[in-house]
Amino acid sequence: MEKENTRTLVLDRPNEKQRLFLLDRHRYIAFGGARGGGKSWAVRVKAALLAYRYPGIKIMIVRKTYPELRANHINPMKQLLGDLAAYKETTKEFSFPNGSVIMFRHCQTEADLDKYQGTETDVLFIDEATQFTEEQFDRFKACVRGVNDFPKRVYLTCNPGGVGHSFVKRLFVDRQYKENEDPAQFSFIRSLVTDNTALMREDPEYIKQLEALPPKLKKAWLEGDWNIFEGQFFEEFRDLPEHYADRRFTHVIAPFEVPETWSVVRSFDFGFAKPFSCDWWAIDHDGRAYLILQLYGCAGAPNEGVKWHPDRIFSEISRMELEHRWLKNRRVTGVADPSIWDASRGEAIIECADRHGVYFGKGDNRRLPGWMQCHYRLSFDEEGFPMAYFFNTCRHAVRTLPLLQFSKTDPEDLDTAQEDHFADSFRYFCMSRPMAPQRATPPLPTGDDPLNQRGAQRYRSFSY
Ligand SMILES: Nc1ncnc2c1ncn2[C@@H]1O[C@H](COP(=O)(O)OP(=O)(O)OP(=O)(O)O)[C@@H](O)[C@H]1O
Ligand SMILES: [Mg+2]
Repeated sequence: MEKENTRTLVLDRPNEKQRLFLLDRHRYIAFGGARGGGKSWAVRVKAALLAYRYPGIKIMIVRKTYPELRANHINPMKQLLGDLAAYKETTKEFSFPNGSVIMFRHCQTEADLDKYQGTETDVLFIDEATQFTEEQFDRFKACVRGVNDFPKRVYLTCNPGGVGHSFVKRLFVDRQYKENEDPAQFSFIRSLVTDNTALMREDPEYIKQLEALPPKLKKAWLEGDWNIFEGQFFEEFRDLPEHYADRRFTHVIAPFEVPETWSVVRSFDFGFAKPFSCDWWAIDHDGRAYLILQLYGCAGAPNEGVKWHPDRIFSEISRMELEHRWLKNRRVTGVADPSIWDASRGEAIIECADRHGVYFGKGDNRRLPGWMQCHYRLSFDEEGFPMAYFFNTCRHAVRTLPLLQFSKTDPEDLDTAQEDHFADSFRYFCMSRPMAPQRATPPLPTGDDPLNQRGAQRYRSFSY
């Protein structure tokens, strides 16, 4: 509880990590490093306390988008302050009777940043700092100046992931400094959801949602692990020759004759200068998929010898389906990269496929649910059986899947600069036959940031 004249600011009690944050006096203070650790709360409370403690101080709170700013800060701040400060919508500022000001700013584009060039503030809060690049951070930092005795500080809150992951990790987690940076100015207070005693008490379900995330995201958001971008994207992928015999705990198996009663699905990812991947999946009566055949090549790469022009690709697909003993006399259904319907650069690739009698349905291109479906298929049940196997003759599948690495900026996606064509085709296939997780792994959230919606729903909003 803080008092100023007769007006009273009523505050909830900070938890231990928030207390450390509120007391910290470094020039650069980062807080959090995981989801739900009480970061946004700490920002609002610290800003209000500074406004009270230093009459006339200027404080700026920054977040990437205006809706996030309004939901996470402006509205809760109105509730917190009541009539203790006046909010002006046009300037997005709270003015206190003692002359202090809290300004709210969002920055989605470089043009937004240009607008703040001349702004001066004594204290700057950057909520979700990993959403900003280091250059944007530097430009914001430059606003912290003023000829007065007020403290000059920059507070950051952060989660692993985002375009700013590397610079936040360097400054606050790895503590690697450039010549012009003084290590003594930087402080990091780690706060996990388990430190947020208020939330743990009010909404014990929330931690379960974090626990149910896929492994990397869980490490990042629940455990505050900043090394999430290292390592294999399909870390569950196993190629264990010694287990061929019983097909347990491996994804790669020796080919076998495909029973006539199994259906076959063809998935296709097209690339012009990059390889295409056409993949035939046999599906057994339990819905388990087996990659039985693969046609893989490059349509337009120069100096590659024979090029796979679309006509050649589809005539070869058509030939295989007429002649190969696992494909002929079966109804093969197809699912493909939706971009092959694009006719903006001349004839759409799909028209070429049609001419050869190779038909496809449009694949579902959503990446995050798609990768989740791939993970579900690859995960082993309690006895060690996955829902997707790969014949060891499909060498481009078996070669590329384990090579794929995480994106450097998005903990839920893979780095698309790699040879991900088979993975994309696998994703379209999985999305065409979505399955429930093998074990009790709940689905992943979709949307920009489903955990960041306000209200009671906010911590219960994981769904497709
Ligand atoms: N000391 C506290 N007393 C009461 N409630 C609190 C306290 N700290 C945090 N909370 C509440 O816990 C919830 C999560 O806190 P907050 O939004 O600050 O977390 P966050 O780290 O910003 O989360 P996210 O990672 O989703 O952005 C909110 O409902 C918030 O009001
Ligand atoms: Mg927050």
